[in-house]
Amino acid sequence: MPISTSIAAMMQNSSFIRKMFEEGSKLKMLHGVDAVCDFSIGNPDMTPPQEFQAALMEEAGRQEPRIHGYMPNAGYPYVRKNVADFASSEQGVELTAQNLLMTCGAGGALNVALRAIVNPGDEVLASAPCFVEYGFYCGNYGAELKLVPSTDTFDLNPKVFAEAVTEKTAAVIINSPHNPTGRIYPSETLAELAEVLDEASRRIGRRIYLLSDEPYRKIAYDGIEVPSVMAVYPHSLVATSYSKDLSVPGERIGYLAVSPGADDAEQLIGALTLCNRILGYVNAPGLMQRTVARLQGVSVDVGVYQAKRDKLRAILDDAGFEYAEPQGTFYFWVKSPVDDELAVVDALKKELILTVPGRGFSGPGWFRISYCVDDAVIERSAEGFKTVRKQFPSQPNPPLERT
Ligand SMILES: Cc1ncc(COP(=O)(O)O)c(C=O)c1O
Repeated sequence: MPISTSIAAMMQNSSFIRKMFEEGSKLKMLHGVDAVCDFSIGNPDMTPPQEFQAALMEEAGRQEPRIHGYMPNAGYPYVRKNVADFASSEQGVELTAQNLLMTCGAGGALNVALRAIVNPGDEVLASAPCFVEYGFYCGNYGAELKLVPSTDTFDLNPKVFAEAVTEKTAAVIINSPHNPTGRIYPSETLAELAEVLDEASRRIGRRIYLLSDEPYRKIAYDGIEVPSVMAVYPHSLVATSYSKDLSVPGERIGYLAVSPGADDAEQLIGALTLCNRILGYVNAPGLMQRTVARLQGVSVDVGVYQAKRDKLRAILDDAGFEYAEPQGTFYFWVKSPVDDELAVVDALKKELILTVPGRGFSGPGWFRISYCVDDAVIERSAEGFKTVRKQFPSQPNPPLERT
């Protein structure tokens, strides 16, 4: 075989999101773009804020020696300072340029962090359902992602994390606001998790790092503030990006921040900087670094996403679907009326509505609707959701398995 056997196996099980995205492209060719309601991928539809365009044009216009040259692997020092100042206000701890490195999106930040922290054979814990790429990212460095169940309301369950820790546990990944459930973890839950991790780190004689994946931090609704992990657990790393809040996922710009109180923080930051280089990123895109440095605190109008959520909620209510109410992100996590959510996803596809089956996120029995789409697409989907809901009378609720 010309390619790695592990990659060949992964290609067989390639992500459901990508599969639906590709099927969507075929359906659009067949029926026309306007006929298909494509809720498959979290690709923000909003135009980036005007401030982004203005800053980008100014930065792109600079003509100076080495303006497009190499830089320190962690990023331009002044950019890191600007970003650290704003991140300090979000996280409620004092971060400096030394605590922070610019990355190729949140995905790049997670890869850099995992490369620096894990040894082959280590385990990384996360709560299911979760973002499908975590398993692949851990596998990149020979670590295994171990999933633990969330609560009935898709909150973190610190007790099950306590039970899942072994001598091999290197890190825990959490994500809030959460893809796919839209949940925002309350500070009490984070504090409980912090206690569990402190206790477990003592028990196994190894510091367990908390890796908080936060690309949706600014997309929170109804005035909810996303609590800080750094404020409750000093051994935290925050991985994030501007992909969703500035609507620029193709530009690959984000950052990784290390809590100043983390065990071995200085050595860790040195390791992260090296990993940014040797994973081949070298540094985050320079033009984008200089652009976002001028846009701290700027984001798309989150009210627009909240209005889309409300529009879709009315449609799902009318059709009779149950769901987890999104507190942030732009995803609706909807309960399949029958155990096999693939049947429902397929029936929706026949109505030209594309969603993603929950098993793609290790959350079978549910499916995800990504509503970062035009209002007209949401409105057009109403009849299709109703038609499909009628085809699947609900099964009686099974006994609850989660605690
Ligand atoms: C939970 C989560 N983490 C990380 C990412 C990757 O973000 P980025 O495009 O900034 O790498 C995504 C993208 O959809 C995501 O949903």
